[in-house]
Amino acid sequence: MDESFVALNFTEGKLILLDQRVLPTQVTYVTCATYEEVEFAIRDMIVRGAPAIGAVAAYGVYLALQQCPEQAAFYQACKFLSLARPTAINLGWAIDRMLGVYETVKAQGRPKTLERLLMEAHTIREEDIQTNKTISRIGNQVVPYKATILTHCNTGALATAGWGTALGVIKQAFYDKKDIFVYADETRPRFQGARLTAWELMESKIPSKLIPDSAAATLIRDGKIDLVILGGDRVAANGDVANKLGTFALSVICKAYGVPFYSVVPVSTIDFTIRDGSEIPIEEREAEEVTHVQGVQVAPSGMQVYNPAFDVTPHQNLTGIITERGIIYPPFKQNIERLRRGETL
Ligand code: MRU
Repeated sequence: MDESFVALNFTEGKLILLDQRVLPTQVTYVTCATYEEVEFAIRDMIVRGAPAIGAVAAYGVYLALQQCPEQAAFYQACKFLSLARPTAINLGWAIDRMLGVYETVKAQGRPKTLERLLMEAHTIREEDIQTNKTISRIGNQVVPYKATILTHCNTGALATAGWGTALGVIKQAFYDKKDIFVYADETRPRFQGARLTAWELMESKIPSKLIPDSAAATLIRDGKIDLVILGGDRVAANGDVANKLGTFALSVICKAYGVPFYSVVPVSTIDFTIRDGSEIPIEEREAEEVTHVQGVQVAPSGMQVYNPAFDVTPHQNLTGIITERGIIYPPFKQNIERLRRGETL
């Protein structure tokens, strides 16, 4: 069963996005008719989640070509789009893929090139949904028939072109009639867990509870969690994973108590060009995300803030990385290299 909502759609030359800034209390849509509006939607997190950002950026490239007949201006627009958020590799991956198509078809003239770019954006979106379904079937193999699962941030249909990655695995397990229970971290400071994952879990009627992030350690220590399944924004060639802030701390606790810990990503989230997690750019976001909660001030005016949006989990803390081409187990470096060479694990 797929979700009852459409988080992103492209119709009549415009991108329509479910506004994730105001969910779940408001279900409203934002229309992007220009690449600048797409860039803003990504930067301001109207849309978020690594695969969703990639799919949306692909439409942004199409809109950029529509707006910029001159090649130099088009390339500049793509560069502008690629800088909207720095950590998720899917953004640059999708833009590069669109530019690859542009280079091969541009000699055929503008109307043909525009047509091909739009087709490619649709393909990226479609492929992402299919990839997520494959990932979910593969990931379901690690979920016991009775399991309590902890997840962090939002990795569902909202974070992708549809269905989801880590939350896709959880949904697959539930629809396969496994007896699962999910704890969702609220995921401060933007509350993707409370606002988005909780919403998706309720939509899917999956038995679950929302917890403050800091409650996870106690649940894990007390043997209440069978496994942790969450997403990833960029995976380095050695298996280090950048994901939503708080993932690293969870991984340390899981390692200390012997709880399996999986990151679930499409292969497009693996950055084969970087050796380890220290090379992953970590986005720092504005102070107000921490000093204010839903517009209400909770810290003294003028207080300095450190607000990294992501952290890096060293591969030593991971049980495995679940992809559409198999589960990557240690030794991560060698097995990621096999994936890079086109092997299926
Ligand atoms: O800042 P966000 O909400 O874009 O961060 C999202 C995450 O960290 C997700 O876990 C990740 O992108 C995987 S989404 C399938």
